[in-house]
Amino acid sequence: MTTRRPRIAFLISGRGSNMEAFFTAIDEGRLQAEPVLVVSNRADAAGLCLAQRASVASSVVDHCHYDSREEFDAELAQTVAAASPDLIILAGFMRILTQTFVAEFSGRLLNIHPSLLPSYPGRDTHRRAIENGDQEAGATVHYVTTELDGGPPVLQARVAIEPDDTPDSLAARVLPVEHQIFPAAAALHLSGRLEQRDNAAWLDGAPLPQTGLDWATYNPDHCQQESTCAS
Ligand code: GRF
Repeated sequence: MTTRRPRIAFLISGRGSNMEAFFTAIDEGRLQAEPVLVVSNRADAAGLCLAQRASVASSVVDHCHYDSREEFDAELAQTVAAASPDLIILAGFMRILTQTFVAEFSGRLLNIHPSLLPSYPGRDTHRRAIENGDQEAGATVHYVTTELDGGPPVLQARVAIEPDDTPDSLAARVLPVEHQIFPAAAALHLSGRLEQRDNAAWLDGAPLPQTGLDWATYNPDHCQQESTCAS
Protein backbone atom coordinates (compact mmCIF):
# COMPACT_ATOMS: atom_id res chain seq x y z
CA MET A 1 0.00 0.00 0.00
CA THR A 2 1.39 3.41 -0.90
CA THR A 3 0.87 6.17 1.65
CA ARG A 4 -0.37 9.48 0.39
CA ARG A 5 2.30 12.15 0.65
CA PRO A 6 1.17 15.58 1.87
CA ARG A 7 0.56 17.96 -1.01
CA ILE A 8 2.33 21.32 -1.25
CA ALA A 9 1.31 24.28 -3.40
CA PHE A 10 3.74 27.17 -3.94
CA LEU A 11 2.98 30.83 -4.54
CA ILE A 12 5.82 32.69 -6.22
CA SER A 13 6.52 36.01 -7.92
CA GLY A 14 10.09 35.69 -9.13
CA ARG A 15 13.28 33.68 -8.95
CA GLY A 16 11.89 30.74 -6.97
CA SER A 17 15.10 29.69 -5.22
CA ASN A 18 13.22 28.89 -1.99
CA MET A 19 10.78 26.74 -3.93
CA GLU A 20 13.72 24.98 -5.56
CA ALA A 21 15.13 24.31 -2.08
CA PHE A 22 11.88 22.46 -1.34
CA PHE A 23 12.26 20.36 -4.48
CA THR A 24 15.80 19.48 -3.35
CA ALA A 25 14.68 18.67 0.21
CA ILE A 26 12.01 16.37 -1.21
CA ASP A 27 14.49 14.69 -3.57
CA GLU A 28 16.94 14.20 -0.71
CA GLY A 29 14.28 12.73 1.59
CA ARG A 30 14.42 15.58 4.15
CA LEU A 31 10.81 16.44 3.40
CA GLN A 32 8.11 13.87 2.75
CA ALA A 33 5.78 15.76 0.43
CA GLU A 34 4.54 16.09 -3.10
CA PRO A 35 4.78 19.44 -4.90
CA VAL A 36 1.45 19.63 -6.70
CA LEU A 37 1.18 23.20 -7.95
CA VAL A 38 3.14 26.39 -8.51
CA VAL A 39 1.17 29.59 -8.98
CA SER A 40 2.85 32.82 -10.02
CA ASN A 41 1.28 36.24 -10.23
CA ARG A 42 3.82 37.09 -12.94
CA ALA A 43 4.12 35.30 -16.26
CA ASP A 44 7.84 36.14 -16.44
CA ALA A 45 8.78 34.63 -13.07
CA ALA A 46 11.95 32.57 -13.46
CA GLY A 47 10.56 30.12 -10.90
CA LEU A 48 8.03 28.93 -13.48
CA CYS A 49 10.91 27.40 -15.45
CA LEU A 50 12.10 25.62 -12.31
CA ALA A 51 8.60 24.19 -11.87
CA GLN A 52 8.55 23.02 -15.46
CA ARG A 53 11.96 21.40 -15.10
CA ALA A 54 10.74 19.59 -11.98
CA SER A 55 7.55 18.52 -13.80
CA VAL A 56 5.33 20.35 -11.32
CA ALA A 57 2.06 21.79 -12.64
CA SER A 58 2.09 25.56 -12.82
CA SER A 59 -0.36 28.33 -13.39
CA VAL A 60 -0.22 32.11 -13.79
CA VAL A 61 -2.79 34.30 -12.08
CA ASP A 62 -1.68 37.76 -13.16
CA HIS A 63 -2.80 40.44 -10.71
CA CYS A 64 -2.78 43.00 -13.55
CA HIS A 65 -5.78 41.25 -15.08
CA TYR A 66 -8.05 41.90 -12.08
CA ASP A 67 -9.77 45.13 -11.09
CA SER A 68 -9.41 44.57 -7.38
CA ARG A 69 -7.35 42.67 -4.85
CA GLU A 70 -10.51 40.75 -3.88
CA GLU A 71 -11.10 39.51 -7.44
CA PHE A 72 -7.45 38.51 -7.83
CA ASP A 73 -7.48 36.66 -4.52
CA ALA A 74 -10.74 34.88 -5.36
CA GLU A 75 -9.19 33.47 -8.54
CA LEU A 76 -5.99 32.64 -6.69
CA ALA A 77 -7.95 30.85 -3.96
CA GLN A 78 -9.90 28.85 -6.52
CA THR A 79 -6.71 27.82 -8.34
CA VAL A 80 -5.00 26.80 -5.12
CA ALA A 81 -8.04 24.99 -3.68
CA ALA A 82 -8.40 22.93 -6.88
CA ALA A 83 -5.04 21.33 -6.08
CA SER A 84 -6.19 20.28 -2.57
CA PRO A 85 -2.94 21.27 -0.86
CA ASP A 86 -2.15 20.34 2.72
CA LEU A 87 0.32 23.22 2.89
CA ILE A 88 0.77 26.43 0.90
CA ILE A 89 4.26 27.86 0.73
CA LEU A 90 4.72 31.55 -0.02
CA ALA A 91 8.13 31.45 -1.65
CA GLY A 92 8.88 35.05 -2.55
CA PHE A 93 5.24 35.85 -3.28
CA MET A 94 5.05 39.64 -3.46
CA ARG A 95 1.31 40.24 -3.06
CA ILE A 96 -0.51 41.01 0.15
CA LEU A 97 -3.28 38.45 0.67
CA THR A 98 -6.83 39.43 1.62
CA GLN A 99 -8.60 38.35 4.78
CA THR A 100 -10.83 36.03 2.71
CA PHE A 101 -7.85 34.16 1.23
CA VAL A 102 -6.02 33.92 4.56
CA ALA A 103 -9.17 32.70 6.34
CA GLU A 104 -9.76 29.96 3.75
CA PHE A 105 -6.27 28.50 4.14
CA SER A 106 -5.47 29.59 7.70
CA GLY A 107 -3.06 27.27 9.50
CA ARG A 108 -1.76 25.94 6.17
CA LEU A 109 0.11 29.06 5.00
CA LEU A 110 3.84 29.48 5.61
CA ASN A 111 5.97 32.42 4.48
CA ILE A 112 9.66 33.23 4.75
CA HIS A 113 10.84 36.74 5.46
CA PRO A 114 14.47 37.88 5.26
CA SER A 115 14.74 39.48 8.70
CA LEU A 116 14.68 38.57 12.35
CA LEU A 117 10.98 39.18 12.85
CA PRO A 118 9.39 41.04 14.52
CA SER A 119 12.16 43.42 13.36
CA TYR A 120 11.84 44.79 9.85
CA PRO A 121 8.59 43.57 8.34
CA GLY A 122 8.13 44.77 4.76
CA ARG A 123 10.76 45.51 2.16
CA ASP A 124 14.46 46.45 2.17
CA THR A 125 15.17 44.45 5.29
CA HIS A 126 18.92 44.07 4.80
CA ARG A 127 19.51 47.74 4.04
CA ARG A 128 17.50 48.75 7.10
CA ALA A 129 19.42 46.34 9.38
CA ILE A 130 22.78 47.62 8.11
CA GLU A 131 21.77 51.28 8.39
CA ASN A 132 20.62 50.72 11.97
CA GLY A 133 24.03 49.33 12.88
CA ASP A 134 22.63 45.89 13.77
CA GLN A 135 25.11 43.12 14.51
CA GLU A 136 22.84 40.39 13.18
CA ALA A 137 20.35 39.79 10.40
CA GLY A 138 18.64 36.60 9.38
CA ALA A 139 15.44 34.99 8.20
CA THR A 140 12.18 33.89 9.78
CA VAL A 141 9.60 31.33 8.70
CA HIS A 142 6.16 32.26 9.98
CA TYR A 143 2.52 31.33 9.63
CA VAL A 144 0.60 33.83 7.54
CA THR A 145 -2.06 36.10 8.96
CA THR A 146 -3.53 39.25 7.46
CA GLU A 147 -0.83 41.36 9.12
CA LEU A 148 2.06 41.83 6.69
CA ASP A 149 4.95 39.62 7.91
CA GLY A 150 3.16 39.66 11.26
CA GLY A 151 2.00 36.05 11.63
CA PRO A 152 3.47 33.85 14.36
CA PRO A 153 7.16 32.98 13.81
CA VAL A 154 8.07 29.32 13.59
CA LEU A 155 11.78 29.08 12.88
CA GLN A 156 14.44 31.77 12.83
CA ALA A 157 18.10 31.72 11.79
CA ARG A 158 20.69 34.39 12.55
CA VAL A 159 23.52 35.60 10.32
CA ALA A 160 26.26 38.00 11.49
CA ILE A 161 26.44 41.36 9.74
CA GLU A 162 30.04 42.07 8.69
CA PRO A 163 31.46 45.62 8.84
CA ASP A 164 31.75 45.89 5.05
CA ASP A 165 28.39 44.28 4.25
CA THR A 166 26.14 45.80 1.61
CA PRO A 167 22.47 44.85 1.32
CA ASP A 168 23.43 42.56 -1.57
CA SER A 169 26.31 40.81 0.19
CA LEU A 170 24.16 40.29 3.27
CA ALA A 171 21.26 38.96 1.19
CA ALA A 172 23.65 36.52 -0.48
CA ARG A 173 24.64 35.10 2.93
CA VAL A 174 21.07 34.99 4.28
CA LEU A 175 19.58 33.22 1.25
CA PRO A 176 21.27 29.82 1.75
CA VAL A 177 20.04 29.91 5.34
CA GLU A 178 16.50 30.54 4.07
CA HIS A 179 16.88 27.47 1.89
CA GLN A 180 17.63 25.38 4.99
CA ILE A 181 15.03 26.63 7.43
CA PHE A 182 12.01 26.86 5.12
CA PRO A 183 11.79 23.15 4.17
CA ALA A 184 12.71 22.24 7.77
CA ALA A 185 9.76 24.26 9.08
CA ALA A 186 7.46 22.67 6.51
CA ALA A 187 8.63 19.20 7.59
CA LEU A 188 7.76 20.03 11.20
CA HIS A 189 4.31 21.23 10.16
CA LEU A 190 3.59 18.22 7.96
CA SER A 191 4.73 15.81 10.66
CA GLY A 192 1.95 17.21 12.84
CA ARG A 193 4.35 18.51 15.50
CA LEU A 194 3.91 22.16 14.53
CA GLU A 195 0.63 24.00 14.19
CA GLN A 196 -0.92 27.43 14.25
CA ARG A 197 -3.45 27.98 17.00
CA ASP A 198 -5.11 31.36 16.91
CA ASN A 199 -2.25 33.82 16.71
CA ALA A 200 0.53 31.56 17.95
CA ALA A 201 2.72 28.74 16.67
CA TRP A 202 2.76 25.59 18.79
CA LEU A 203 5.36 22.85 18.75
CA ASP A 204 4.75 19.50 20.43
CA GLY A 205 1.76 20.94 22.27
CA ALA A 206 3.53 24.02 23.68
CA PRO A 207 3.54 27.59 22.39
CA LEU A 208 6.76 28.76 20.74
CA PRO A 209 8.50 31.96 21.85
CA GLN A 210 7.68 35.18 19.99
CA THR A 211 10.59 34.72 17.60
CA GLY A 212 9.93 31.02 16.96
CA LEU A 213 12.46 28.21 17.25
CA ASP A 214 16.11 29.19 17.03
CA TRP A 215 17.71 27.29 14.13
CA ALA A 216 21.10 27.16 15.87
CA THR A 217 19.58 25.19 18.72
CA TYR A 218 17.09 23.21 16.68
CA ASN A 219 19.26 22.05 13.79
CA PRO A 220 21.24 18.95 14.83
CA ASP A 221 23.73 19.46 11.97
CA HIS A 222 24.49 22.92 13.27
CA CYS A 223 25.50 21.41 16.65
CA GLN A 224 27.69 18.95 14.76
CA GLN A 225 29.42 21.80 12.91
CA GLU A 226 30.08 23.64 16.15
CA SER A 227 31.61 20.68 17.93
CA THR A 228 33.81 20.01 14.87
CA CYS A 229 35.08 23.60 14.96
CA ALA A 230 35.77 23.46 18.69
CA SER A 231 37.85 20.27 18.59
C1 GRF B 1 13.55 35.66 -0.37
O1 GRF B 1 14.60 36.44 0.11
C2 GRF B 1 12.45 35.58 0.64
O2 GRF B 1 12.90 35.67 1.97
C3 GRF B 1 11.63 36.79 0.32
O3 GRF B 1 11.68 36.91 -1.08
C4 GRF B 1 12.86 36.29 -1.56
C5 GRF B 1 12.42 35.27 -2.56
O4 GRF B 1 13.50 34.66 -3.21
N1 GRF B 1 10.29 36.65 0.83
P1 GRF B 1 13.25 33.39 -4.13
O5 GRF B 1 12.21 33.79 -5.16
O6 GRF B 1 12.76 32.29 -3.26
O7 GRF B 1 14.57 33.11 -4.76
